[in-house]
Amino acid sequence: MNSLFDPASLLIAIALTTISAAAVAATQVPLSSLDLTKMRQGYGKAQIDRSIREKPLAIGGIAYAHGVGTHAVSTLWVDLAGGSDRFTAWVGVDDNAGQPGTVVFKIYGDGKKLFDSGVMKFGGAPLKADVDLHGVKTLLLLVGDAGDGINFDHADWAEAAFTVSGASPHAIDGPVETAEILTPKPPAEPRINGPRVYGCRPGSPFLYRIPATGVRPMTFSAMGLPQGLALDPASGILTGAVARPGEYNIQLKAANAAGFAERPFRILCGNTLALSPPMGWNHWYAHYDRITDQMVRRAAVVMVSSGMADVGYQYVNIDDCWMNAPHNRGPERVGPLRDGEGNVLPNKHFPDMKALTDFIHTKGLKAGLYTSPGPLTCGGFTGAYEHEAQDARRFSDWGFDFLKYDWCSYGEVAKGKSDPETLQQPYRLMGSLLKQQSRDIVFNLCQYGMGNVWEWGEEVGGECWRTGGDLGFELDRIFDVALKNAGIGAVVHPGAWNDPDYLQIGYVGDARTGGEPRPCGMTPTEQYSFMSLWCLLSAPLIYSGDMEHLDDFTLNVLCNPEVIAVDQDSLGHSARPVQVTSETFVLVKELEDGSKAVGLCNRGEMPTTITADWLTLGLRGKQVVRDLWRQKDLGVLNDHFQAEVPRHGVVLVKLSPAFDALPAP
Ligand code: GLA
Repeated sequence: MNSLFDPASLLIAIALTTISAAAVAATQVPLSSLDLTKMRQGYGKAQIDRSIREKPLAIGGIAYAHGVGTHAVSTLWVDLAGGSDRFTAWVGVDDNAGQPGTVVFKIYGDGKKLFDSGVMKFGGAPLKADVDLHGVKTLLLLVGDAGDGINFDHADWAEAAFTVSGASPHAIDGPVETAEILTPKPPAEPRINGPRVYGCRPGSPFLYRIPATGVRPMTFSAMGLPQGLALDPASGILTGAVARPGEYNIQLKAANAAGFAERPFRILCGNTLALSPPMGWNHWYAHYDRITDQMVRRAAVVMVSSGMADVGYQYVNIDDCWMNAPHNRGPERVGPLRDGEGNVLPNKHFPDMKALTDFIHTKGLKAGLYTSPGPLTCGGFTGAYEHEAQDARRFSDWGFDFLKYDWCSYGEVAKGKSDPETLQQPYRLMGSLLKQQSRDIVFNLCQYGMGNVWEWGEEVGGECWRTGGDLGFELDRIFDVALKNAGIGAVVHPGAWNDPDYLQIGYVGDARTGGEPRPCGMTPTEQYSFMSLWCLLSAPLIYSGDMEHLDDFTLNVLCNPEVIAVDQDSLGHSARPVQVTSETFVLVKELEDGSKAVGLCNRGEMPTTITADWLTLGLRGKQVVRDLWRQKDLGVLNDHFQAEVPRHGVVLVKLSPAFDALPAP
């Protein structure tokens, strides 16, 4: 047979031609040729052939002519359109970054991790990423912050390119979540919410609005009230003063046309306030130096009308910028810092502080104020320095119930010293001054965690203390912040709370620019996670968004009584972390009734299954598992609970012993 027509040779020849055609057809498509406006990142804009600082790309002393410069946390989703064979790049922290630039590069194909650089540091050598893309439809290029925040996280995808033999890859928008309302509406019949235990001091003005959902009108009553307290049956507001120290076990009742509810409530009259984490609102992350008396009043009105007060929100807190300043962009906020007698002067936007707190109090709510131990506050307004006693008295006379005490400009007084005595002194002073007032004033230390404040905040008179810097600057790190707080959670107990800063969901301003409130950058899942984490930590639940823009979704996240009950639980524990990996962890919190609240937490970029077994959680026997966001029992489980947790999600459940073996009649 003529070899030319040998069918086997013909097949080989065809195959060879196909292979060489494919080899010829394969092209390199640089990452930089994709639409980089779709690259989301923590700072700045993606750069072509330059670092985020707009300098030539360089990693570990090696220069690269081409690539993409980005900044953690950075994500780019790519539709490979079935045509890409490989993706290759040299990755690392750019040489122009500086300390403490640390990042981690990850590449996912259809949800599966294809590459993980591990932690890469500033000055470190580049690493080659080379991933096979056959069969992969969607690719995610991710740069994470390696767990230490995004400062100086300048990340390079150098010489990054796709080897393409078919359709070209193109950048796409990342998955978009819809804002799902998970929680059923409160029933028509009354439900009494809020803490079950409440602290006050003998003789101090008492004010507590019983939080209750259900249709109004509602009639309240209480059995066992201590002498000196009276309850207004229509509003459910308790007022008066408890004359004698002691423990008073009360039974609260609420009735309406649909039914009635009752619940025990314990008043501990002694020296300890804030027996459950304070709940309320603070103006800072919505209004910055735009705050006015009118806006604070509106916040109080909305706290009641929106239903927030019915689930336990109580404090209406003014932050910085209510005083005069030597200089400010608003002329109405500039004026004498103090009057002739040394009294601190509110600025023109706060014409009558006493009238303002009276207004808040008539709603059954409480009023909070801010100042700083330095000569000036962080915003450059009058601080309390050398007027501490006078200011404490004045705040009390005005009727405030809460004081946030910052640190700003006290550094000048401290002359750079950071020994324990220097750090504690201003708080010890103000703490003891507040205790001398005839009002109960909750004391919130705001010195960003210096000198491990959680170890001595209570001893100097604080009820809660910020454990870190301003969370508004690191909202992409709520999981890391929560994990850090859980790690120091052993100090938490009734009257002593770690404060990881305010809830910033719904409409908030940009902390970097002090901008007007707008929808926050968090996904719906992240907003649920924020609330779940804070409740597991027993953190103060202080909302710091715009009260004029509370949509149904935001209210749903803020106002689920079963979730809030985890925060307000009388045992006053913080969750402890278990099963911590680079992407997931589990938080477990003991509750007073012997059950546990458990959060399966996924800080990774992909949905993942998390399993928590009873042994790790410290549980024995069958457990009823309740989904707290949906307020729904999921069933009785024998020895573990497992759930698919979305990207940046927390699955929050309550596990209670299942008493299925009923005692014999
Ligand atoms: C500091 C605090 C913030 C806020 C501002 C006000 O940054 O940490 O919470 O009070 O001051 O200037």
